[in-house]
Amino acid sequence: MFAGQGQQCKSEGKLKMFNYVCLNPIAQIGLDVLDENYRKVEDVKDAQAALVRSASMHDMELPDSLDVVARAGAGVNNIPLDQCAEQGIVVFNTPGANANGVKELVLAGMLMASRDINGGINWVVDEKENAELAKLTETQKKAYAGCEIAGKKLGVIGLGAIGIRVANAATHLDMEVYGYDPYISVNAAWNLSRNVKHVRNVEDIYRECDYISIHVPLLDTTRKMINEEVIAMMKPTAVILNFARDLLVDEEAVVAALAQGRLKRYISDFPNNTTAGKEGCIVIPHLGASTEESEDNCAVMAAQEIRNYLENGNIRNSVNFPNCDMGECTTEGRVAVLHKNSKGVIGKFTSIFGECDINIANMTNKSKGDYAYSMFDLDTPMTEEAVEKMKAMKGVMKVRIVK
Ligand SMILES: NC(=O)c1ccc[n+]([C@@H]2O[C@H](COP(=O)([O-])OP(=O)(O)OC[C@H]3O[C@@H](n4cnc5c(N)ncnc54)[C@H](O)[C@@H]3O)[C@@H](O)[C@H]2O)c1
Repeated sequence: MFAGQGQQCKSEGKLKMFNYVCLNPIAQIGLDVLDENYRKVEDVKDAQAALVRSASMHDMELPDSLDVVARAGAGVNNIPLDQCAEQGIVVFNTPGANANGVKELVLAGMLMASRDINGGINWVVDEKENAELAKLTETQKKAYAGCEIAGKKLGVIGLGAIGIRVANAATHLDMEVYGYDPYISVNAAWNLSRNVKHVRNVEDIYRECDYISIHVPLLDTTRKMINEEVIAMMKPTAVILNFARDLLVDEEAVVAALAQGRLKRYISDFPNNTTAGKEGCIVIPHLGASTEESEDNCAVMAAQEIRNYLENGNIRNSVNFPNCDMGECTTEGRVAVLHKNSKGVIGKFTSIFGECDINIANMTNKSKGDYAYSMFDLDTPMTEEAVEKMKAMKGVMKVRIVK
């Protein structure tokens, strides 16, 4: 729950209404978060907020009235982030909302890698007309037998929203779990089971583990992190699980290693022509986050982000502006300014407040790359004169009177 949720949003004694548009179908449980002060419209031109899943916004004309885009999901390739920033539109995503869905499929992946469950099920389907099926099963089943995961070593690389869930769950399946994440957040560290062993050198995971699951973002530094050199360190019985991004793995090297018996299996959530149907590859059609619960969680989180931003000016989980949270406004006025991250800007804002006889009760300024966000709580309501002066400043994209 964010500060101010459930509170009516008022401006000069009048109820503030917000229009939103859904560019894709959004789970109802999320839309229910948007209360009677929110009205659904059909055209983005009439909206202050847009909820989106995969619809491409690259060729869309975005009106200046649009204040916020919330992506119900993690990836934001379908959204022109810089263009939005230039227009003062804050873009949110919903990190971690689908983490449990992915975690469960990783566990399924480990089990599928350990026994030939797929092959066995396919054999049963092939023999469906065979009157001797039940009898035949007892002689044929050994072809699909395997090992248990209890007691095996699992290495988790990347202990964020998904990685910690995978690591923690695996400890309950009696696996010996090793975790590697040099940049682990304090919050993630608090949530990590004490039974997960801390690894300082990722090569220890490559050399020792039976199952290696990667849960890192795709960055220049992580692209093809699983490559020939790394595979050469692994046991020939090792299983690689990739529910993060296919480009993290040199899949041609993996396919070659599988064919030569230098790896046991590669489980991927990202079908492509390199891995589909190849020996030792179990490729799932990107089902990690495809659960009802994940979609619900994403929709609820996206709607909460919209409310917190429109009603309080707070930014949490933005991909183009910095996080900034001043809670609920308890003074007479609050104004938010979206601007370029340049020197001397704050001084100019405070001068304008002074010239307009407005006292600042509290303020904050945060930056992210080229862009910055400033919020001011005021002892008297914001005036049009002050708004116009700020808007006229070079590098100011938008000025919002939040209260
Ligand atoms: N299969 C799916 O449907 C699906 C769904 C959601 C997310 N994902 C992918 O899963 C991955 C993890 O997502 P998340 O939500 O857990 O992300 P997250 O941001 O919560 O966690 C990522 C973690 O990786 C760590 N990290 C970064 N670079 C690292 C490195 N070089 N070595 C070790 N750790 C490193 C970070 O410190 C962070 O803790 C991402 O690639 C994401 O795109 C896939």
